[in-house]
Amino acid sequence: MIQDNAPLWEALCAYRQRGVIPFHTPGHKLRGEIFPRLQAHLGSGIFQLDPSDEIEDLALDHDFERALEAAQQLAAQLFGAAHTLFLVNGTTSGLHYLLYSVSGKLVIPRFSHQAVYTGALLAGNECIYLPVRFDPEWQIPLPPTAAELERAAADHSPAAVVFTHPTYYGTCAELEELVVKTHQLGALAVIDEAHGGHFRFSPVLPDPGLAAGADGVVQSTHKTLGSLTQTSMLHVQSDELHHLVRRARRILETTSPSLVFLAVIDEVRRSLHERGSELVGRAVELAHCCSARLERIPGVQVLPSQLRHDPTKIVFSLRELGLTGIQLEGILRRDYNIQVELSDYFNVIALVTLGDTPETIEQLCRAVEGVVERAGHLGGRKLRLPDLSYPPLPDQALPMGKAVRRSWEAVSLRQAVGRVSAEFVTPYPPGVPILVPGEVVSRDTAAYLEWCLRLGWPIRGMEGVALYVIKDNAL
Ligand SMILES: Cc1ncc(COP(=O)(O)O)c(C=O)c1O
Repeated sequence: MIQDNAPLWEALCAYRQRGVIPFHTPGHKLRGEIFPRLQAHLGSGIFQLDPSDEIEDLALDHDFERALEAAQQLAAQLFGAAHTLFLVNGTTSGLHYLLYSVSGKLVIPRFSHQAVYTGALLAGNECIYLPVRFDPEWQIPLPPTAAELERAAADHSPAAVVFTHPTYYGTCAELEELVVKTHQLGALAVIDEAHGGHFRFSPVLPDPGLAAGADGVVQSTHKTLGSLTQTSMLHVQSDELHHLVRRARRILETTSPSLVFLAVIDEVRRSLHERGSELVGRAVELAHCCSARLERIPGVQVLPSQLRHDPTKIVFSLRELGLTGIQLEGILRRDYNIQVELSDYFNVIALVTLGDTPETIEQLCRAVEGVVERAGHLGGRKLRLPDLSYPPLPDQALPMGKAVRRSWEAVSLRQAVGRVSAEFVTPYPPGVPILVPGEVVSRDTAAYLEWCLRLGWPIRGMEGVALYVIKDNAL
């Protein structure tokens, strides 16, 4: 296999070149002219490269299906997997295909992304939770340990264990140890590597899940490696799992996956083969410079290196100057035209990727210096630790799969106490669900959500200040 080829991208370009007269879908007939405003911004190429994936003519080199197979094999080779699938519905879909392929209980970190929960929901798998521990100073969720896995899995014989590697904040577990422990339990090790696709390309970054011996790994190629939004890769290490995830894809994927999206993954893979180490290496260097400069600004705290396993995720805080991360995100956006990835009570996270340049780093650092100069007017006294902590794991009244099929109503937080949640309720970040469908709303949970709302912390799964709960007569 030759990594210098990009079979799907080339097949698509050849189709465009041929100027076929299309009497097939899609309805735009490969012409942007009918939508001049779209064409003005997207150009005509996006339309000309967007035939449906049904066209197959081997003789004319139009066999997109075969080209996709070849492209996926090249990606598997580059990333060190036995098989790879290209995905057009993000890492969300890859996690769904993997978990759909598992029969039995799952052990998952409670701080898993919602896609892990919805994967379990689709497959009807029961979830056992690895507890959430927060770093006491930075208030960020920490990855699980092997001892926690052992305790959680005892008496359950899980079919699979899911790990998030890295977390949103760039922290990583002792993954190899966890994978070994998972295999000793007789379970599959599944890695949500949405934020770690770039690990493969720099020796100073943590080892990728595949190198740690995982059975299935899903990466958001769009998040850290620059392909178009919603394009991801699913890597597996056995033929058996490959057959299962392909079947899941046949069942769950659109029957019209975008060839543009798939071909872009292929071309990005070729570029990564050519320059991945150089591009990711440069991003790592820029990120180091950025952190070092931010650390030198009085009043700015940067997540220390013992927690910052992925240096390209720059977690920093102006809590000493009295600003919450949520306030800092707003100031950077409104006054400096800078949008960070996420913010929480203490921190903001700025992602540095292969798309950054010394200029973008300079702009970020200057903006933070500017905020610090004005901080006397903006903030106040040093921020204290939050008065409330993440509430204890709620009682479960109904399995998730049943809870999402019951009729529901929206009620105030106060009225919701003692009722059963119909929704995932998740402050972002860190994306740890406070409630999943079927769980009972406790007084602690309601108080914590009220506090998040007062801070202006975005919460998914609420309607304003109301929670969705299952109607009493539907329980
Ligand atoms: C940890 C984690 N897993 C999975 C996902 C889903 O990825 P995608 O947006 O590619 O579907 C995300 C998205 O933010 C995420 O942060």
